[in-house]
Amino acid sequence: MRNDEFGLAPGLVYLNHAAVAPWPRRSADAVARFAAENATSGALHYARWLATEHRLRERLRLLLGARSIDEIALVKNTSEGLSIVAFGLPWQSGDSVVGIARDFPSNRVVWEALGDRGVSFRPVDVNAAADPEGALTAACDASTRLMAVSWVHYVTGLTLDLERLGRFCRARGILLCVDGIQGVGALPIDVEACRIDFLAADGHKWLLGPEGLGVFYCRDTVLERLEPRQLGWHCLAHPGDYERPDWRLAPSAQRFEAGSPNLLGAHALDASLGLLLEIGADAIAGAIRGHAATLRAALEAIPGMDLLGSSDPARWSGIVTARIAGTDGAALVAQLAADGVVCAARGGGLRVSPHFYNEESELQYFCDVLSRFIKKC
Ligand SMILES: Cc1ncc(COP(=O)(O)O)c(C=O)c1O
Repeated sequence: MRNDEFGLAPGLVYLNHAAVAPWPRRSADAVARFAAENATSGALHYARWLATEHRLRERLRLLLGARSIDEIALVKNTSEGLSIVAFGLPWQSGDSVVGIARDFPSNRVVWEALGDRGVSFRPVDVNAAADPEGALTAACDASTRLMAVSWVHYVTGLTLDLERLGRFCRARGILLCVDGIQGVGALPIDVEACRIDFLAADGHKWLLGPEGLGVFYCRDTVLERLEPRQLGWHCLAHPGDYERPDWRLAPSAQRFEAGSPNLLGAHALDASLGLLLEIGADAIAGAIRGHAATLRAALEAIPGMDLLGSSDPARWSGIVTARIAGTDGAALVAQLAADGVVCAARGGGLRVSPHFYNEESELQYFCDVLSRFIKKC
């Protein structure tokens, strides 16, 4: 039975939330209402739109466990959030950044690009390490200014213990910057408890929102250490006072929002977060990790299957990826799509990423289609 909150086409089994998620009905409805209002009355009700945007910030604050909405900036995407950190900190030649080998490009290139300022990037192969956090902390030394991790690895689904990393970094004065896109919305997070300084995540994966709107969390105590590299009117302390000749930056993370907000996206993402908060982070994570357990068990039973990621359930996320001897991921994805199952090819394998609302029967259908295809190979 389909979850009533979603209106996916009959026969479509959507297991690709680590790429781009479908919107819940309520988000599609919010966008339709917003479009109708624009078409009939322009921005006459702008104050109401801003109230929705304010609620979105509050919902993001709640979801992340931030102390204040002043620590929340709305950005275009994860890459923008990570770039704000990389190109806003006052680096000195000889500094180092510890990060993750074979991470998604957004969380590699910004750090590698600091090379021309004399900053070295030290990628750690967390997926090969018996103790991933231990490997990351061992790579830090007196030159390390920042640790840049993806909470959940986009290929293997490996989930890092952010609390452990945060304790280590805080004790040594190292900033902790988290690419949260593959975890936020799927697993509970508490940026306070984890002592995270910066976190960026886009809306279109586990948050079930649109592309083009994401969150950048900046701990209030480190706000002044980041120099905004894009300026405009919206990032100022007096954003509506257009005639004012003098200016200063907003005292909050809004200083990273240069110009007009993405209110269309805000209406959609606000509605999606409303659903996630109603269900609750623990219930969502429970369902997702249950799906991971089901998928891992089913895939392990298929001969020739090389399951990536950790076998420790505490490290599981919404991502399950397997390489299958004699087949390539792209061919499998095409075959599955022909049978109505949507997943992705990543890291030379097949990446499956169900969300909380997927049904056990859908996972079973995926396994049946996959087994049939493999037998034919
Ligand atoms: C770990 C990780 N970071 C970043 C991104 C995408 O970044 P953006 O939100 O800038 O599109 C992805 C997308 O797959 C990802 O998996």
